[in-house]
Amino acid sequence: LNYCVPRTRKEIFELLVKGLMRLEYRGYDSAGIAVDGDKNTTKDNNQDIVLIKKKGKVKALDEELYKKDCMNLEAVLGTHFGIAHTRWATHGEPNAINSHPHRSDKNNEFVVIHNGIITNYKELKKYLNSKGYEFESETDTEVIPKLIKYVYDNRERDDLSFSTLVERVIQQLEGAFALVFKSRYFPGEAVATRRGSPLLIGVRSQHELSAEHIPIQYNILVKSIYWIKIHNRPEDSSTAVSVTGDGKGMEYYFASDASAIIEHTNKVIYLEDDDIAAVVSGKLSIHRLNRQAGEDPVRAIQTLQMELQEIMKGNFEAFMQKEIFEQPESVFNTMRGRICFETNKVVLGGLKDHLKEIKRCRRLIVIGCGTSFHAAVATRQILEELTELPVMVELASDFLDRNTPVFRDDVCFYISQSGETADTLMALRYCKERGALTVGVTNTVGSSICRETDCGVHINAGPEIGVASTKAYTSQFVSLIMFGLMMSEDRISLQGRRLEIINGLRTLPDMIKKVLALDKNIKSIADELYEQKSLLVMGRGFNYATCLEGALKIKEITYMHSEGILAGELKHGPLALIDKDMPVIMIIMRDACYTKCQNALQQVTARSGRPIILCCQDDPEVSKNAYKTIGLPQTVDCLQGILSVIPLQLMSFHLAVLRGFDVDCPRNLAKSVTVE
Ligand code: G6P
Repeated sequence: LNYCVPRTRKEIFELLVKGLMRLEYRGYDSAGIAVDGDKNTTKDNNQDIVLIKKKGKVKALDEELYKKDCMNLEAVLGTHFGIAHTRWATHGEPNAINSHPHRSDKNNEFVVIHNGIITNYKELKKYLNSKGYEFESETDTEVIPKLIKYVYDNRERDDLSFSTLVERVIQQLEGAFALVFKSRYFPGEAVATRRGSPLLIGVRSQHELSAEHIPIQYNILVKSIYWIKIHNRPEDSSTAVSVTGDGKGMEYYFASDASAIIEHTNKVIYLEDDDIAAVVSGKLSIHRLNRQAGEDPVRAIQTLQMELQEIMKGNFEAFMQKEIFEQPESVFNTMRGRICFETNKVVLGGLKDHLKEIKRCRRLIVIGCGTSFHAAVATRQILEELTELPVMVELASDFLDRNTPVFRDDVCFYISQSGETADTLMALRYCKERGALTVGVTNTVGSSICRETDCGVHINAGPEIGVASTKAYTSQFVSLIMFGLMMSEDRISLQGRRLEIINGLRTLPDMIKKVLALDKNIKSIADELYEQKSLLVMGRGFNYATCLEGALKIKEITYMHSEGILAGELKHGPLALIDKDMPVIMIIMRDACYTKCQNALQQVTARSGRPIILCCQDDPEVSKNAYKTIGLPQTVDCLQGILSVIPLQLMSFHLAVLRGFDVDCPRNLAKSVTVE
């Protein structure tokens, strides 16, 4: 929303479309936009809202915008509020009608964009249908614009503010949402709110910002079903708070992720659940329902450190490729300022005040989804060794399905790149209710998991855009190892082991560089494999997680069937798959499982299998039985998984490119899954 900052319609389109493109990794089966029609250029501001939606990528929407010859691209819009959205289907197939913004009626009186899921949409739809409101899409979201129109049509007073209408709407909604509303009845006004899904507001001012925080206003409003009884809210008893004096020259950017807006401003406010943010006459105010005890009465305006170039592809073909090659730096950044290589001390600032409590716990439960879960699997053994505690690793969805018993003296870790994954977030709330100490391990400052946990670690890997997670995995891995090192600082019997690991961490970035230098070799193997249907990845011990993660990468972006197999289970089933035609990658490193892995290798070659082997450089014993080898530098056993996963990240990338797929936007997947 630009208030008294003249921009042409073309500039507004570009701004919105660029923002969407930066968020495309979150979901991308369709996209849409709502802007003011040309009437807005006239003085009376009696504009119509124009809605343009398109199936496919943001690029398709972008092209569509310029086909609308009814809209004057050069028109200068003094104050203007536009909204845009990319969708990843949950209810209803991907098509233009189901994409956002959704509207209240054919005149586009209210339009809404929504992230999340409305779980009581069927009841609401039924009610609204009975009141004569007609639906055009198959989505859960559409109940929201219909509901706000219903509230508006039945308002008891003419002067109800836009934010009051929204407040009444969200009282009826169950589920998760981040919402931004636009209405022809409130030109130049924006209202946004969230519950469970992320939402932030970027603020840019032509003047110096005169505030560091926005005080929250509280409204006394009794929660109730709106259509049973309407409770009057004492209309804005406190005045709106402006970031500057008069609100002129202000621009506000509402976004679900900072990468959409970072090129315009690095000043952001993260909204909390049930905050309702409204911009009226260029002034931003945030209000919520009754104040809860202990609640923060202000929302800080934070300055983000993120640089635009961090979210640009540079010379790489894809974000994923860039992120793979960033790992020497991202892993270093994870350790920066936390490990003192002189004293061998490891300090994770976000955990140090809770260390005593963690040491006293009954067990550690490490919870995540997808790649983040694999980081837990990868570090489980070393965490058991260094903490001398039982460690459970759990997939968030399964953990909840089982109603797993959790106790007050458990410590629960939530591993999540985005910090927003719904399943992980729900597992967090589940454990919190049961009194466990909760620890977040995320890559996204200000995310829901960061805010809701008792303490945590930021992995500091920098923004990860590619849907298939790469650098976040290795940084999660390193973060968990650092936690183990911190826990074992006073265990005399573990000092030798600690030292070995700390030395391994010191040289890790250089070793990663050496692995990345194998890219050509890996590409040439991919050239041979890319037409295959299936690819097995086998290993055990510290490298089992690499098999799972490697197979996930291959599945995610190449659409080949791939399975991570525990070599110890080979005889119990997977061996039946092996013949001369089945491509198999085996990981055989010089660690405690070396001999057992060699046995597995014998079993594979005895069935005429032709394994591609990831092994230590200069291992003639293993190489002689290999169809192809990828020789890796050797590090400490518990860190080897960081090096062994990189060839598989590269392999999946090359396979996907060779098979002609879009590496950063795999079909049916989204970067951040904020629905159950
Ligand atoms: C999605 C992504 C995966 C990711 C998983 C967990 O499925 O496609 O790449 O590993 O979510 O995400 P999180 O942000 O919690 O690490």
